[in-house]
Amino acid sequence: MAVIGKTGMVDRILVRLGRIADNNPTAAKALKAGVPILTAGITAGMDVAASFGDFRASLLISVPTVLALTAGVGKLFSNRTELAQKRADLTVARKEAEEGQILLTELEEAKLRLQELGRRNTVMAQVLSTKGIKAIEEGVPFDGRNTLVRKLGQGGMAVALLVFDTTLKTNKVFKLPLPNMVASKADLDRFTGAEAQSMLLINHPRVVRFFDLAEMEPDVYEALVGEPLNRAENIPAKIPYINMEFVDAPTMDHVIWQEGKFTPARALRLAIDIATTLQEVSRKGIIHRDLKPGNVFLLKDEADPSAEIAKISDFGLAKKKTVENMADPQGFVPQLTTDKIAMGSPENMAPEQWMATEVDLRTDQYALGTILCEMMTGLPPFGRADQNSLMAYGQNVLRGNLPKEEILKKVDLIGKGADRWWSILSRMLAASPEARYQKWEDCIREMEELLRQIDNKKASKPDAPSPSKTKILTSLKPEEGK
Ligand SMILES: Nc1ncnc2c1ncn2[C@@H]1O[C@H](COP(=O)(O)OP(=O)(O)OP(=O)(O)O)[C@@H](O)[C@H]1O
Ligand SMILES: [Mg+2]
Repeated sequence: MAVIGKTGMVDRILVRLGRIADNNPTAAKALKAGVPILTAGITAGMDVAASFGDFRASLLISVPTVLALTAGVGKLFSNRTELAQKRADLTVARKEAEEGQILLTELEEAKLRLQELGRRNTVMAQVLSTKGIKAIEEGVPFDGRNTLVRKLGQGGMAVALLVFDTTLKTNKVFKLPLPNMVASKADLDRFTGAEAQSMLLINHPRVVRFFDLAEMEPDVYEALVGEPLNRAENIPAKIPYINMEFVDAPTMDHVIWQEGKFTPARALRLAIDIATTLQEVSRKGIIHRDLKPGNVFLLKDEADPSAEIAKISDFGLAKKKTVENMADPQGFVPQLTTDKIAMGSPENMAPEQWMATEVDLRTDQYALGTILCEMMTGLPPFGRADQNSLMAYGQNVLRGNLPKEEILKKVDLIGKGADRWWSILSRMLAASPEARYQKWEDCIREMEELLRQIDNKKASKPDAPSPSKTKILTSLKPEEGK
């Protein structure tokens, strides 16, 4: 057997290992890192064996040492590879977690959007699923033609809904009777019956237009109003409603609430405008009976945008004059009516309405008086009515003792102007219809004269120079002096 030296042995082993490593990059790396350890290990093993004088024995000791060391280095590298793999897995997992978080956020947002949509749909249709009311979907015609936009408000007799007519591409208002009226034929008749039909005759630019009296299915009505009808009651097969013009303007009560009282000139102009409309409509034998700031829209005049006009709504409680009374259509001829129910709004109701006796054109004149007072002072003549003390309020109206000092204190008029205004107002608000103006034209003429007096006074006052003019004049002075 040929004797191999220590270095030769190390070299041979390294060559062998090198061959294995040629085909295996991981082993090559392990070998490269392990060479110094291997060399030291083999040499140490051979040294130990040599000390026993048996070279072959030294081989027996050194080879397992080399193998053990190689295995150790290999393990180290496989651990490293595993670690790297784990790191890579972690990066992927982190990325996935981040993406998952984004998805979760998106899901959460989608859930909120859905909830909001659901809430809006619920609000839109006021669907009470427990009551079995069918839903009105946003943007979907509920009657094959009109979509519900929103509820505008609710009055003493009706719910007003803003709808969009998909055929005419325009907004309209549907006025539906309140659920508690549906089972009463008398109430429904007052709402859309023969009297309301006369409103279709009014085609006046200062009156909110009634387009049509129509009917809808009870389940569509329930979905729109959000209240179930009591099917045990005697409800009609179809529910009547009014289809009317939408006025995109605020009502007078809102304007007074927002801006406070009006200037005397503005109030008088509007009162004249309203009185003129009432006079013209009365020629058709129609009176309003529920005139109040909430039934008067204030808007710009299309013909003259600098001017303000009043558009009157809801002749809904109006009564057509009987044929006998048409003999003197312009006069305040008392109109006998079979309807003895007191109706209207407490702050604007005339004594005859409180007493549920005959109403006529002079009843509207009283209501206009209360509106004129509210425009000029911010309050109706007897103040705001309180639901809890309505009887006391009514008694004040019936006695007709107007709180003169209190009212005049709040009006921006003095001297003769104030006296003249009080004489007009107190006449319009006289407790007895006989003491009021007997013809609209007299009332209108006196208001116009007062308006002229106010306007003339304004015109005769020398105009103070505007701040910008003053500035120019003062800056010109030194130039002129030069
Ligand atoms: N044609 C319309 N155009 C625009 N808004 C309207 C129209 N009709 C009614 N509204 C709005 O809907 C609200 C409720 O109207 P509704 O006429 O039913 O009640 P009201 O005027 O308060 O009381 P009343 O029953 O005594 O007339 C009004 O305050 C008004 O803001
Ligand atoms: Mg109204």
